Amino acid sequence: MADGWHSWLAPGRARRLAERVGTPLYAYSGPVLRNRCRALTRAFPDAGLRYAMKANANPTLLRVVRSMGLGVDTVSPWEVQLALECGHRKNDIVYSGSNPSDDDLRAVHRAGVLLNLDSISALRRYGRMFPGSRVSVRLNLEVGGGHHPHVITAGPDSKFGLAAEDLPEARAVAARFGLRIVGLHQHIGSGIFDPALFLEAFDPLLALTSVLPDLETVDAGGGFGVPYRPDESPLDLAALGAAVTDRFAALNKGRKKPLRLLLEPGRYVVAEAGVLLTTVTTLKRTRDRLFIGVDSGMHHLIRPALYQSYHPVAMIPERDGAPLRSFIVGPICESGDVLAEERMLPMPDEGDLVVIGNAGAYGFAMASHYNLRARPAEVLFDGPGKVSLIRAREGYRDVIRRRDLRPKR
Ligand code: LLP
Repeated sequence: MADGWHSWLAPGRARRLAERVGTPLYAYSGPVLRNRCRALTRAFPDAGLRYAMKANANPTLLRVVRSMGLGVDTVSPWEVQLALECGHRKNDIVYSGSNPSDDDLRAVHRAGVLLNLDSISALRRYGRMFPGSRVSVRLNLEVGGGHHPHVITAGPDSKFGLAAEDLPEARAVAARFGLRIVGLHQHIGSGIFDPALFLEAFDPLLALTSVLPDLETVDAGGGFGVPYRPDESPLDLAALGAAVTDRFAALNKGRKKPLRLLLEPGRYVVAEAGVLLTTVTTLKRTRDRLFIGVDSGMHHLIRPALYQSYHPVAMIPERDGAPLRSFIVGPICESGDVLAEERMLPMPDEGDLVVIGNAGAYGFAMASHYNLRARPAEVLFDGPGKVSLIRAREGYRDVIRRRDLRPKR
């Protein structure tokens, strides 16, 4: 696709960047990020888009997303706080946290953000604490999907959402505390390529709007897939957008107060706007494998280890030679510490660079300090020759956060 990282991170540029900032490093493209936002607003012109910031919560990127007219979907009080600090307005923020504690409910309520609640327990606790409030209810209508079982968030075995048959009890609890159910929400999973599956879940959600008299918004979640493998074709976003827009317009026809459609894409916004740049540290050949050891691993991009996800890779420079059965592996003391497996690559040199593509979503966001290693720095390319460091590299003290407990005298 025209927005592929090759278009903004040519080998020379990557090398200069690695020299100046060092690796491992997440690099993002402002123009690609804006293009993804534009594609969404074009496909869903009537919807309120709420970027699922769990995919990537870098403050600079949150501001770019805001400048493109998107709000945010949050799942923790600190996500709410950061979104507000980055200029998002409380009315453009939704909260869909799972199994919220009382403290979570309090913090989000105080921030003035609408909560999607998905258990009778949370509704009851929220109602008790804040009677008379507005609230939204998350449903699980038994249609789920996604790129891996871990990311399917609806269906009979999912912890998310209230079943349709629980709705009467939810309404009774709401009535007891004077809560007004102003929103219906669902999110069926992550990495959806088939518009028909999304619509299969969307239709029953729309059907339930008739039983809730105070309703103002219908939030159909996110989950729009992006291709990672060379043989995957992109989701037909325009077709999905047209079908969703038509159905929603039909629902609103004749309604005194039209409902507002909300959507919460995360991956679609940022995945293709980011790469992970790493350096080859160690080469090792075994009987039938080449292990390309790099200075990044599952602690920076856990998706291959956790979901067996495929990320495209490119070597800088591109070496000549017979392709070898290669595994790109990191410095973490686990055999699962693999960034890419079974790739046919010519023998690189130690010191060469490896670009791991489509790493903008759920990359840095899921990075950890496992094995006491720093998380990567982050840079943004925005405009000709303009590179800014948007997250500094961590040092020993950032990772340890140690406070010596000296005995008091
Ligand atoms: N809304 C809710 C309530 C969600 O739980 C999620 C994602 C989204 C929206 C955004 O979904 P997206 O548009 O990004 O697919 N770590 C996994 C993905 C987990 C997604 C969890 N929920 C991965 O790396 O594939």
